[in-house]
Amino acid sequence: MKSMLNIVVFSGAGMSAESGIQTFRDSNGLWENHRIEDVATPQAWQKDPDLVTSFYNERRKSVILAKPNNAHEGVVELEELGDVLVITQNIDDLHERAGSSNVLHLHGNIRLAKSSGPDQEKAYYPINGWKLDNTSVCPDGYRLRPHVVWFGEEVPSYEKAAELLPSADVLIVIGTSLQVYPAAGLLQFATNAQQKFIIDPKADQLDIPSDFIKLNATASDGMSTVIRELKKRNS
Ligand SMILES: NC(=O)c1ccc[n+]([C@@H]2O[C@H](COP(=O)([O-])OP(=O)(O)OC[C@H]3O[C@@H](n4cnc5c(N)ncnc54)[C@H](O)[C@@H]3O)[C@@H](O)[C@H]2O)c1
Repeated sequence: MKSMLNIVVFSGAGMSAESGIQTFRDSNGLWENHRIEDVATPQAWQKDPDLVTSFYNERRKSVILAKPNNAHEGVVELEELGDVLVITQNIDDLHERAGSSNVLHLHGNIRLAKSSGPDQEKAYYPINGWKLDNTSVCPDGYRLRPHVVWFGEEVPSYEKAAELLPSADVLIVIGTSLQVYPAAGLLQFATNAQQKFIIDPKADQLDIPSDFIKLNATASDGMSTVIRELKKRNS
């Protein structure tokens, strides 16, 4: 019989590293050779929206070509053990493409666009293929921008994540440097989780509370260890 565990997976860029999508903390503060301030801030959009659009077009191209890796598949396998909520900082859609049924994107979804006008969260528009055109506008006439949360912007799904985290029995943190706030601060809301894991090749260097089991491992290796452990403990 299926147990009733509530599992929350909190993922970051390292989750998709084995799918060939670069993280940025590992590359000298540059993201695919760009300074974050030049491509991932509201100021960058004000200054040069064409550059920002083309940066994300390239990222979208890589995401479309990438495939979910064993760690994404492992997160799907967790659904055999109970209800699984994935809270991801990633803007790729690899969790969904692997088959996870409940994914909350904290920093948006690169496959979607939204208005750059005053009411940006009103609607999200699927982008056909990899290219968001410089001429695309929303029905109100504002230029379309990628549906991603830039540095310095509010995180629209933060409150929803904070409300859902206290029901977690199990918390699995994967591939995040926990440097990006407010997202990283969400972990404090998992107040009832009795089983907490962090999977990251640099887990022992991260600032993480002592009640976490630290696995210095890649996402795919770490996930298979955690799945084995959870099946043993909760069957
Ligand atoms: N795939 C994506 O969507 C993507 C990629 C790059 C950046 N971003 C954005 O940039 C921000 C970056 O913050 P972050 O904390 O998610 O990432 P980060 O780049 O700050 O940290 C990545 C972490 O992943 C770890 N890592 C590297 N290889 C790994 C592997 N094979 N398995 C497991 N872990 C591995 C690193 O040790 C590091 O701790 C996010 O908010 C996100 O929106 C997204």
